[in-house]
Amino acid sequence: MRTLRLSAADADDVKQAADILRHGGLVAFPTETVYGLGANAMDAEAVRRIFAAKDRPTWDPMIVHIASRDALPLVAARVPEKCLRLADAFFPGPLTLLLPRSTNIPPEVTAGRDTVGVRMPGHEIARRLIAESGVPIAAPSANRFGHVSPTTAEHVLADLDGRIDAVLDGGSCTVGVESTVLDALSEPPRILRQGCITKERIEEVIGPVEVYQPPVSAAPPESLPAPGVGLRHYAPLTRLVLIEGGEEAMQLEAARHVRPGSLLPNGWNVRGTFFEWGKWGDWDMLAQRLYAGLRWLDGQNADAILAPLPPAEGLGNTLRDRLFKAAK
Ligand code: TXA
Ligand code: MG
Repeated sequence: MRTLRLSAADADDVKQAADILRHGGLVAFPTETVYGLGANAMDAEAVRRIFAAKDRPTWDPMIVHIASRDALPLVAARVPEKCLRLADAFFPGPLTLLLPRSTNIPPEVTAGRDTVGVRMPGHEIARRLIAESGVPIAAPSANRFGHVSPTTAEHVLADLDGRIDAVLDGGSCTVGVESTVLDALSEPPRILRQGCITKERIEEVIGPVEVYQPPVSAAPPESLPAPGVGLRHYAPLTRLVLIEGGEEAMQLEAARHVRPGSLLPNGWNVRGTFFEWGKWGDWDMLAQRLYAGLRWLDGQNADAILAPLPPAEGLGNTLRDRLFKAAK
């Protein structure tokens, strides 16, 4: 299969991408978090193609993307009051809400679960594409299963060229890490995957929430509340070494390697090759550049990638979560 390159800046290209989706094809498209690999969420056959293109296990449910809140009754059997308040506060944006699944959404999408993850992306082109396709769009991140999520069209092609119908190039994603996944149907509500909508911000809207900790045991993934989120994930091929203790600790670790490669905050001095990550303390910027840095360093023939761990607060927790999973 030849993968078409389409441009998000060209209205005809966006239309063409929407046509492909409407006719059961696969289109990778930009969102504010990471690129998604989309298919018509109401077409079980199209959804099966996503699993095949990504080599994704069928027990891992997908998020359904909508262009406006008007589509909520189409994808969800009902929307509890608490979830409506969350949608008021955070839609459109990088929050995925679990809702009772509507029978319009085939069980393939949700891996047989009776909940469906629903998200209305903040990215304007993503919403235009979904609106023009006329259907809700199932979309996991547009990478091979377990690999680093893509934040540019080039990243998508590096993983999926020849396996999908088209990629809509909209440049770099602005958030850079996947959406927060929240189960507000359980009591207390649980964050299943941390993201840039932090625990603190959610608690301002609905009160106390828990952060789900995936078990360390080898429980079968299909038995878990969030099957995909506890796995080694977002992972480069080169071994990743995580470092607490800042610049000095990184210098000590670098001395132990022949060819170290570092995810390096601006102004830090560590020997070896490095990706200029951004200003330490500017967690938004570091989140935005994390996956590009991991992918770039993975191509540098380093014997290890060294990364400093941000402090465990706010978005720092999300960065730590992704780094721990990438280092598993
Ligand atoms: O930012 C994002 O969320 C991106 C963009 C494309 O929207 N999408 C994304 O999808 O990261 P994916 O499939 O790579 O990650 C979704 C995670 C999976 O680990 C899955 O296990 C969990 O969300 N998930 C989805 N639906 C679920 C459900 N009904 N119940 C429990 N977990 C669910
Ligand atoms: Mg993913």
